[in-house]
Amino acid sequence: MNVDELVAAAAAAREQAYAPYSGFKVGAALLTEKGQVYTGANVENASYGLTVCAERIAVFKAVTSGEKNFTTLALVGSGQGYIFPCGACLQVLAEFAPVIKVIITDEKRQRKEYNLNEMLPRHFVLPT
Ligand code: THU
Repeated sequence: MNVDELVAAAAAAREQAYAPYSGFKVGAALLTEKGQVYTGANVENASYGLTVCAERIAVFKAVTSGEKNFTTLALVGSGQGYIFPCGACLQVLAEFAPVIKVIITDEKRQRKEYNLNEMLPRHFVLPT
């Protein structure tokens, strides 16, 4: 699975977004160390705060399928320019993959690549 294919998987997942309130559809594709891909799309709710982002859906699908080792996340949004994962999703990603590669895209599917540890240098860890 190369980066183009992972971005294509995120774009396909985006089609399943449920975003009647914001109109802003997002798709995510998460690549595991074993080469499996788990996708997610945002799911909104009439009670707006219950909305779940595409990235967290992808992580939760993977984890509940028995996968916790991730190498790359690709993200495809809507509109112009690059979209970055929100802070809540960065924290959820950091739980399993604090140095995961994050690929964000713009409307032309141009890509930028970051490491999660530069996007969220200090994530919350429960003190022992
Ligand atoms: N959203 C995501 O799915 N991922 C992000 O990284 C940022 C925001 C969704 C949540 C909501 O459904 C819509 O985009 C607008 O905020």
